[in-house]
Amino acid sequence: MSPDEHVCLCFHVSKRKIVKFCQREKPKVASQISACLGAGTGCGWCVPFLKVLFEQCKRGEPDPDLPFSIEEYARRRQTYRDTGARPAEVPPPTEPNGTP
Ligand code: FES
Repeated sequence: MSPDEHVCLCFHVSKRKIVKFCQREKPKVASQISACLGAGTGCGWCVPFLKVLFEQCKRGEPDPDLPFSIEEYARRRQTYRDTGARPAEVPPPTEPNGTP
C-alpha cells in the first residue's frame, strides 16, 4: 500500500497520516489513533489494520505497511460491509482462476 492510499476508507485517512501521527504523538494504545482525523471510528473495518500500523511504529519499523494493494484492501472492506464478517474472517484473495 502506498503512503497516500487510505487505510481508513470512511474518513479518507492515508497510511502516511496514520504513520506520521503514531511517530509524532506516540499513542499508548492503538485506539488513540482515532484522534487522527477520526480514523477507525466509522464502519470499524480498518481497526485491525490501524493496530498493525501502530505495532509496527511502536517497534520503530522504518516503513510501516500493510500487505495489500489498495484494490484488494477495498474489495475486502466491501465484503466486510456486505456480509458483516469481521476483518479476520474475510476470505483471502482468490486468483483469477478461482483458486485461493
Ligand atoms: S474504514 Fe475506517 S472506520 Fe471504516
